[in-house]
Amino acid sequence: MRFRGKGVSAPSAVGAVLAMVAVPVVLGSSAEAAPGCKVEYTITNQWDTGFGATVTVTNLGDPISGGWTLSWDFSGNQQVQQGWNGTFGQQGTRVTVRDAGWNGSLGTGATVSPGFNGSHSGTNEKPAVFTLNGTTCTGSTVPTTTTSPTTTTTTPGPGGPKADNPYAGAAVYVNPEWSAKATAEPGGARIANQPTGVWLDRIAAIEGTSTSRGLRGHLDEALRQAAGKPLVVQLVIYNLPGRDCAALASNGELKADELPRYRAEYIDPIATILADPKYAALRVVTVIEIDSLPNLVTNVTPRPTATPQCDVMKANGNYVAGVGYALAKFGAIPNVYNYIDAGHHGWLGWDDNLGPSAALFAQAAKSSGSTLANVHGFIANTANYGALKEPYFTVNDSVGGASVRTSKWVDWNRYVDELSYAQAFRQEAIRAGFPAEVGMLIDTSRNGWGGTARPSGPGPSTTVDAYVNGGRTDRRIHLGNWCNQAGAGLGERPKAAPEAGIDAYVWIKPPGESDGASKEIPNTEGKGFDRMCDPAYTGNPRNQNNMSGALPDAPLSGHWFSAQFQELLKNAYPAL
Ligand code: BGC
Repeated sequence: MRFRGKGVSAPSAVGAVLAMVAVPVVLGSSAEAAPGCKVEYTITNQWDTGFGATVTVTNLGDPISGGWTLSWDFSGNQQVQQGWNGTFGQQGTRVTVRDAGWNGSLGTGATVSPGFNGSHSGTNEKPAVFTLNGTTCTGSTVPTTTTSPTTTTTTPGPGGPKADNPYAGAAVYVNPEWSAKATAEPGGARIANQPTGVWLDRIAAIEGTSTSRGLRGHLDEALRQAAGKPLVVQLVIYNLPGRDCAALASNGELKADELPRYRAEYIDPIATILADPKYAALRVVTVIEIDSLPNLVTNVTPRPTATPQCDVMKANGNYVAGVGYALAKFGAIPNVYNYIDAGHHGWLGWDDNLGPSAALFAQAAKSSGSTLANVHGFIANTANYGALKEPYFTVNDSVGGASVRTSKWVDWNRYVDELSYAQAFRQEAIRAGFPAEVGMLIDTSRNGWGGTARPSGPGPSTTVDAYVNGGRTDRRIHLGNWCNQAGAGLGERPKAAPEAGIDAYVWIKPPGESDGASKEIPNTEGKGFDRMCDPAYTGNPRNQNNMSGALPDAPLSGHWFSAQFQELLKNAYPAL
């Protein structure tokens, strides 16, 4: 009975372009003078009976001058039909490619990219092992260069193993568009250099428009900001069919049954861009589909919080299949790190929600050809307002023999803040089968709760409610409120590895962007009017019929909301 946070088979048309999936072949490399090579085998397009592929070979060893021979074995019935940038031959499953003469010399670090069109039926597995002049290409974890000899990266190098924590030792991409809006606000320059999430919230966001850059535009700018050093780019993948099933403010462009479009027009084009070797040195963090899977746990029949649209999305399986597809596609790209949205403590922190959520996430991560290994971690509190740490009470306190859990505010929740929730969720996910290395992110963009209303000590020990209400820094009317919350401030600034199990504090929701309009605003973005964004609204079962606590005069979700930005500056905690 609890609240929300904020919170097919694709038609295999002949010639349909699938994502390019780069497969790094990586093992140790030997000393400098020894031979060595790295291969990325990329399927550039695929249709039911055929495919095209590019095989990018980097010579990591001594210069090769007398020509080269590359070979591999197909695991299925693939047959090379026509090749380029090399002379192709095939006997049985074994393919041999010799240089084309003009590209027979390969200096140390030099790259050559033979490609071919082939036929196949059934699955089209990528070959696992390649040899160059008889040496198995094991890749390298030492700094390598891909396209330009001047771009050197530290570990993990392009094609190297994923970093355990991608934020460790890395800068994070500052979105120049958000930064400009922040700078234009009085006092905003103080935070304009903070990294924020790039929301790919519709198909058109991939290409961009005349006024906002597309994904390549962001990644090119990210390369510039990286200047050869490790840099994380944070992308929000947010366009599932039937999006935002328990609310209206962020309903999206794809209808409940449009999973094929989600795959072909949204995920595949993004994956193609992310797999471009040009971007191999960036660490791309993908935040996967805010609110979707949690909604399938809490906002479905027979819960009193069920919505018809969430029942539809549970029944048709398109959230689960869509998330699995995104994880599989992005997880195959060596420098992409998937983090699944895990709601927040005021949503999944109850016993009957936590375990089922971790189990559902595992189910999704094993769907659509994905495996649990495609999940690098989870993110808590995205675009929400839950306090990071409640300093003046813990869930273990009691007043006059009454546990804090019996208070109206906590209402039997197992957690009272996002840090304790995130750390516990991580353990739950590992119990559900996820790798022990998974890490958590916490969105601290708007959970600061500073300013004059912030308590300076515990509440009175008269009743448990007085104790909790007097001491809690989260000043929302109800924990289930999520839209443009009055009184909120900026939270902890983005930071790598701040606490055990936490990969980073991040600002995924860009401060100043609305959660939803406070009244009906006609639009072409598919966004509805959710009364939780109307300050006059008296609530629904998901916030136990409390006032919404929303700021007035808010624009559509994602649009700039100056008054909110100003309030976030004013109530920042830590203060600016
Ligand atoms: C909106 C998106 C927007 C994002 C970030 C979401 O609530 O639906 O359109 O990009 O917030 O502000």
